[in-house]
Amino acid sequence: MRLAERTEGLTASPTMAVDARAKALVRQGVDVVSFSVGEPDFDTPEIVKEAALDAMRRGRTKYTAVQGLPELREAVAENLAEELHLAYPPDRIVVSNGAKQSIFNALFALVGPGDEVILPAPYWVSYPEQIRLAGATPVIVPTDVARGFHLDLEALEAAIGPRTRVILLNTPSNPTGTVLERSELEAVAELALRHDLWIISDEIYRHLVFGAEHVSVAQLGDEVRAKTILVDGVSKAYAMTGWRIGWAVSEDPALVEAMTAIQSHLTSAPSTVSQWAAVVALRQARASVDEMVAEFDRRRRRMVELVRQTPGFELAEEPRGAFYVFPSIRGLVGSEVGGRRVYDADDLAELLLEEAHVAVVPGSGFGLPEYLRLSYATSLERMEEGFRRLASVLRVS
Ligand SMILES: Cc1ncc(COP(=O)(O)O)c(C=O)c1O
Repeated sequence: MRLAERTEGLTASPTMAVDARAKALVRQGVDVVSFSVGEPDFDTPEIVKEAALDAMRRGRTKYTAVQGLPELREAVAENLAEELHLAYPPDRIVVSNGAKQSIFNALFALVGPGDEVILPAPYWVSYPEQIRLAGATPVIVPTDVARGFHLDLEALEAAIGPRTRVILLNTPSNPTGTVLERSELEAVAELALRHDLWIISDEIYRHLVFGAEHVSVAQLGDEVRAKTILVDGVSKAYAMTGWRIGWAVSEDPALVEAMTAIQSHLTSAPSTVSQWAAVVALRQARASVDEMVAEFDRRRRRMVELVRQTPGFELAEEPRGAFYVFPSIRGLVGSEVGGRRVYDADDLAELLLEEAHVAVVPGSGFGLPEYLRLSYATSLERMEEGFRRLASVLRVS
């Protein structure tokens, strides 16, 4: 069968693939410890569920405006003002089916064939695929691995050419947990303005920071704010991944109109019931976010200790955000683990799932094939159990 050219090399998200394999083992009755999940293991706050039920009972079950429910856009604007001190009018906000669609809408509106998007690596798995789906070319720029994956500003500037249109930032980062510092964001802002580039800033993990300050590039002055598309949503902070609500914010009315038009022909607005639930999440669920952040911090600290004690795992800097740890396994490449030779993180992840029944995500999908991503969206007890199993298999020879 002949498929369109754009599907060549396009594969389903590798993070979801690992999860699917682990779930298949679980269905066979195997007790798998999963460090592969990309969502909080907490339940959606009760008050949010009640809001959804209430919306249904009131018959709020029809289409909303494509751009999103006005009440939700107002709640987003209030939230941005309160938490990030950013004043955006509600009509500059486009609500979508998760932050994933918001990023796609932004890319689809801004780039096409011949255009380049600068993408620091490691990157979230969907960015390069979305850039290619939009017809543009991702230009992958390595980060400073030894300095905890902070931006390599010289490499970033060197990657800018006449076709560059966008720099894509993600802070806190999936998969590294790195929180970008104000100074490096200032440097990116200066670069973007000097070269007349857009910045898509994915801040979906912005509430999940531990002993670090989340800075949005949009906060660094009026000029850079005008060139920034800020992407956020309720998925991670409010444990609402399945509700599918995210948003993109831009000062530019033409860009907002284009993103809305794209969405109008693809999905229309997201679920009305989810939008009403998101209004309550933003306005009334802050306490749940704080509780979740405190628990994630306890787990983060323990996971960093456990990773550092694990033979063959190396972690340069402690991650300060999101819920991931991204150690190098370079020391294990070429050696024999559990009677099998390991050539890269893909091999190792497969082996760990089969031999230790521990699910981890190989770094290849994030642009670094000698690393593993481990998520601490799991209980401390399961974490201890998982690392006991890892230690018993990772006896290197
Ligand atoms: C960096 C990053 N951006 C965006 C998303 C997508 O979020 P949503 O569930 O709101 O589409 C994810 C989800 O894993 C993510 O890790």
